[in-house]
Amino acid sequence: MKDIYETMLQKAKEISKNSYSPYSNFPVGACVLYESGKKYLGCNVENASFGLSLCAERNAISNAISAGEKTKIEAIAIYSPKQKMCMPCGACRQWLSEFADNENIEIILEGKNEKPYALKLKDIFPYGFKFDE
Ligand code: THU
Repeated sequence: MKDIYETMLQKAKEISKNSYSPYSNFPVGACVLYESGKKYLGCNVENASFGLSLCAERNAISNAISAGEKTKIEAIAIYSPKQKMCMPCGACRQWLSEFADNENIEIILEGKNEKPYALKLKDIFPYGFKFDE
């Protein structure tokens, strides 16, 4: 496990404290690492109209794009104080795939015993939608 993944999980943990999740009471934080070496953070933001809630992962990616990031995503760490191994939802997997190079993105989760656990996007999201090149 790369040292940077520990750092990313720690950052995801910190940003999860900013979560606005009064409806689910399920805070989530994400730290996305790009090939540029830059990291961007996001937390989930809920709404009284439940379906409008935004996930932490998509907020982190939106922050990267808004900041002008142009490289591909290398890895994303996801953390919730409510659940170990907080997997990205289907919508977030599709978002990650949009910015993937060969779907090789690593998903870093807090595993059992607080140790980071890494999965590949291609293993949890095969055959995502893409336009023909
Ligand atoms: N949530 C995320 O932020 N990321 C995920 O991948 C799964 C779910 C949020 C959405 C909602 O605010 C709360 O967790 C409960 O579903």
